[in-house]
Amino acid sequence: MTWRPLSRLFRKARKPEGFGSGLFLRAMNLGHTPLSRWGLSQIEIGSDASILDLGCGGGRNLARMLERAPRGSACGLDFSEVSVREARRVNRRAVADGRCEIRLGNVQAIPWPDASFDLATAFETVYFWPDWPANFREVGRVLKPGGIFAVVNSLDPGGPGPKVSRYWLDVLELKETTTAQWAGMLSEAGFEEPQTASRDKGGAIIKARKALGWQLLLSPCPMPSAARFRIHVFVLRPCV
Ligand SMILES: C[S@@+](CC[C@H](N)C(=O)[O-])C[C@H]1O[C@@H](n2cnc3c(N)ncnc32)[C@H](O)[C@@H]1O
Repeated sequence: MTWRPLSRLFRKARKPEGFGSGLFLRAMNLGHTPLSRWGLSQIEIGSDASILDLGCGGGRNLARMLERAPRGSACGLDFSEVSVREARRVNRRAVADGRCEIRLGNVQAIPWPDASFDLATAFETVYFWPDWPANFREVGRVLKPGGIFAVVNSLDPGGPGPKVSRYWLDVLELKETTTAQWAGMLSEAGFEEPQTASRDKGGAIIKARKALGWQLLLSPCPMPSAARFRIHVFVLRPCV
């Protein structure tokens, strides 16, 4: 038995829009803080990393990641206009400094060029994405070779945290998906070395790496004496 107005409010998590959505996003920024902090503690972030947060919602995670990457940049994507507005407000200083850009768009067609980012994150959002295999391949497209995709979910069926309630699955129209199943989907989408970890109080992270590409280069032989004879060697090196 669910109380309809409350269910309608919670359903905003899928796509915040309409009356009260700004407040709802602020509540999510606050309510998701413990899980987000835990998830971020599991992710390596270089001080000059270029980061993309998918389904960025109210933008608090962008702010946290920008703190960890003081010489880097962070972009956000969300298909809710209210989320984009709130995320820009929360990160207004970084936006003004050119270190943060937040775009309106769908994960189905991420509006950035190939190989743009070192790290892509998705906090509390993948459940809502429309086509997981295609959407994960699209994330792979915008990551640099060797880049990391990190998914942080509060739902971790079978994990050590509290049992996933039927209420939330029904209200949010979610399919119960285990952390191992998410990891399997990332592998099928071409990611390598998926790693998972569960949080005792509930929640899980799934991290995987985009495969390194390799380039075959014809390069002058490094030995000075050989240079006279114009000897070249083939060098196989990872492309970055
Ligand atoms: C539950 S909120 C999580 C927001 C934020 N990541 C956080 O942890 O607080 C889910 C967000 O994902 C966004 N979202 C869902 N499906 C999306 C899609 N297909 N493309 C872009 N954004 C999407 C929603 O608009 C919403 O802002």
